[in-house]
Amino acid sequence: MTDQNLTGRVALVTGASRGIGLATARHLAAAGARVVLTSRSQESAEAAAATIGDRARGFGAHATDEDQAQRCVDFTISTFGSLDILVNNAGTNPAFGRLIDQDHRRFTKTVEVNLWAPILWTALAARAWMSEHGGAVVNTASIGATVHEPGLGVYNASKAALIYTTEQLALELAPNIRVNAVAPGVIRTELARALWEQREPALAAATALARIGEPDDVAAAIAYLVSDAACWTTGTTLVIDGGQRLGTATGFGDTGRPVAGRPA
Ligand SMILES: NC(=O)c1ccc[n+]([C@@H]2O[C@H](COP(=O)([O-])OP(=O)(O)OC[C@H]3O[C@@H](n4cnc5c(N)ncnc54)[C@H](OP(=O)(O)O)[C@@H]3O)[C@@H](O)[C@H]2O)c1
Repeated sequence: MTDQNLTGRVALVTGASRGIGLATARHLAAAGARVVLTSRSQESAEAAAATIGDRARGFGAHATDEDQAQRCVDFTISTFGSLDILVNNAGTNPAFGRLIDQDHRRFTKTVEVNLWAPILWTALAARAWMSEHGGAVVNTASIGATVHEPGLGVYNASKAALIYTTEQLALELAPNIRVNAVAPGVIRTELARALWEQREPALAAATALARIGEPDDVAAAIAYLVSDAACWTTGTTLVIDGGQRLGTATGFGDTGRPVAGRPA
């Protein structure tokens, strides 16, 4: 008997003050979990948690700050008694443009937040709770990891590496801890605003399911992956893109220029 009920589980969701992270925290809480939401700002984290209610707490922690991450993991366990679910969702993209036009600072920030932070938080959660008691981890990757498009080379490379890392962690942490990823298409959030705001009708028309994604679309998939319904699933990446990869809508970084294989 498999089950998506999370009653009694405790979850930690990074980057949860808005967007996919906040929607995920809401879905996990609705399924019965108690949830800690992080943001770089304590105020934003607490405000987001307050929208969920008693079963949620906010914690200000920069995803790449090891000391803050450790304190957040400790806070989660001391507040709610365990740490069964980790969603490494915080992500960034300061490095728009061609690879050869990037600088080391933007590259480093992208890779540290999108790739190193999931490794760091998974390690802390494993040591503090999951290795002994079991657990489920989901990393938020992107369909950008599987395509080539102008302007998003550093971001997409970091997400491709995150998919590899998901598989590696799944192997290293089995059988006690399952590690999976989601790869969203274009979702209506702040991070992706530049991708959808001016071109939503065209993007929707080129998407098999005829609309761009909403944070709840991704949250529902994450809630499935961390639940017992996915108890024999590890090291996999679930694409949540409404069929964007099937059509011509993969232009995350569409510059308006014609791209080979895609109509102008
Ligand atoms: N939207 C899309 O189309 C799309 C597609 C594929 C993948 N993704 C991935 O989905 C994830 C969530 O993005 P989103 O679209 O939901 O973006 P969003 O609405 O902008 O939310 C990003 C969240 O991450 C937090 N955050 C940013 N940098 C952080 C850091 N260094 N440490 C801790 N928290 C940080 C933000 O909180 P504060 O600003 O309050 O710190 C916010 O809560 C990211 O990993 C992104 O790469 C998004």
